[in-house]
Amino acid sequence: MADLRIDLAGIKSPNPFWLASAPPTNSGYQVQRAFEAGWGGAVWKTLGEPILNVSSRFAAVSFNGQRVAGFNNIELITDRPLEVNLQEIIETKKKFPNHAIIASLMVEPQQEKWHEIVKKVEAVGVDGLELNFGCPHGMAERGMGAASGQVPELVEKQTHWVKEVARTPVIVKLTPNITDITMTAEAAVRGGADAVSMINTINSLAGVDLDSWNTVPHVGGKGSHGGYCGPAVKPIALNMVAECARNTFVNVPISGIGGISNWQDAAEFMLMGATGVQVCTAAMHHGFSIVEDMIDGLNNYLDEKGIASVMDLVGQSVQRYSNWGDLDLNYKVVAEINNDVCINCNKCHIACEDTSHQCIDLYTESGRPMLKVREQDCVGCNLCSIVCPVDGAISMVERKSTIAPMTWNERQSLISSFAR
Ligand SMILES: Cc1cc2nc3c(=O)[nH]c(=O)nc-3n(C[C@H](O)[C@H](O)[C@H](O)COP(=O)(O)O)c2cc1C
Repeated sequence: MADLRIDLAGIKSPNPFWLASAPPTNSGYQVQRAFEAGWGGAVWKTLGEPILNVSSRFAAVSFNGQRVAGFNNIELITDRPLEVNLQEIIETKKKFPNHAIIASLMVEPQQEKWHEIVKKVEAVGVDGLELNFGCPHGMAERGMGAASGQVPELVEKQTHWVKEVARTPVIVKLTPNITDITMTAEAAVRGGADAVSMINTINSLAGVDLDSWNTVPHVGGKGSHGGYCGPAVKPIALNMVAECARNTFVNVPISGIGGISNWQDAAEFMLMGATGVQVCTAAMHHGFSIVEDMIDGLNNYLDEKGIASVMDLVGQSVQRYSNWGDLDLNYKVVAEINNDVCINCNKCHIACEDTSHQCIDLYTESGRPMLKVREQDCVGCNLCSIVCPVDGAISMVERKSTIAPMTWNERQSLISSFAR
């Protein structure tokens, strides 16, 4: 069995699966049940001034039969008093000393407010802090959450204030509601962050009810923008993790969050540079027990690959993620159709004919309809294999190029050297 333990900026946990700061980590009762189920860590529901929440507050986007493909919320930080949360953290830490408990914090951008809350939560024995610069709604209107997280100077300054008094590792949780997340990640590092986590939720409106014309969700007929998460946001989160992982100024560990639902998602985030992952929507959809399959699946995967420790997975794919200008223009794949498996639905032909490069021909052989790719016209875009409903009916195969590899950047410098 592989070693699943992780060490993220000094925070140790028995496995890389943490619950993200959200409803699943709202109380000691829940976090203790999560640890019993197998979760390695929990980022407590964000602590701050006890505030009020609204009803209703969640909405989901189902797509083509998949329920909760995306999840939307207008919930704020904890509405339970700080003292109650702190007492429950003490009890939980006592019962689970080897599990990671991280306190998520959000206060107004004032030095003394940060100092005060950091001292209070560290006094109850948390393993680390996560600064919530991400919530896109409710708190942002008061200068907190994403309002802070969208301004690199504020991220740097507040991280610095926290680091002035913090004794435990500080993770800065970043908002995706920004053009380039590496700007705020770099600011967090300049402020002294020990790690960064991403992503918080994405600005969104889940829908409009076509009968009532109310927003979904609505609060007595009025709606407000919310935060989007769940499987739909995974590619956005994975890219942001990768962009930070390959940025040499973001030289701190990354905790990956966003649409992680199973061990495969987790492994992808870790390959792209995350030292561990956090999960919210999948736990809300299916319950704490999903972590059992996550642990088993990751264990089997590592064993099959002959990898002794999950930490050896971290960042292995980062070097393979580069700028478009560094891709080989002479690399070529083409589609190949296996007519023995093909069910002749013709989706590939329609897709190629209407929206790609018109290179899949229909013909009949011994009275049987067949499809064939005209290789010389195929650009290897993958669309036919994406729309094909049958596994193995279309493969994208590499065609060895007789021309030497050449990237756009190399091509441009060659052109400019000729021009000189
Ligand atoms: C209902 C709800 C409440 C949330 N509350 C918080 C919060 O208090 N603090 C925080 O940092 N993130 C909060 N989040 C964001 C999650 O921690 C996480 O970053 C986001 O949901 C993406 O992960 P997922 O796709 O696994 O859900 C909340 C998310 C949801 C759905």
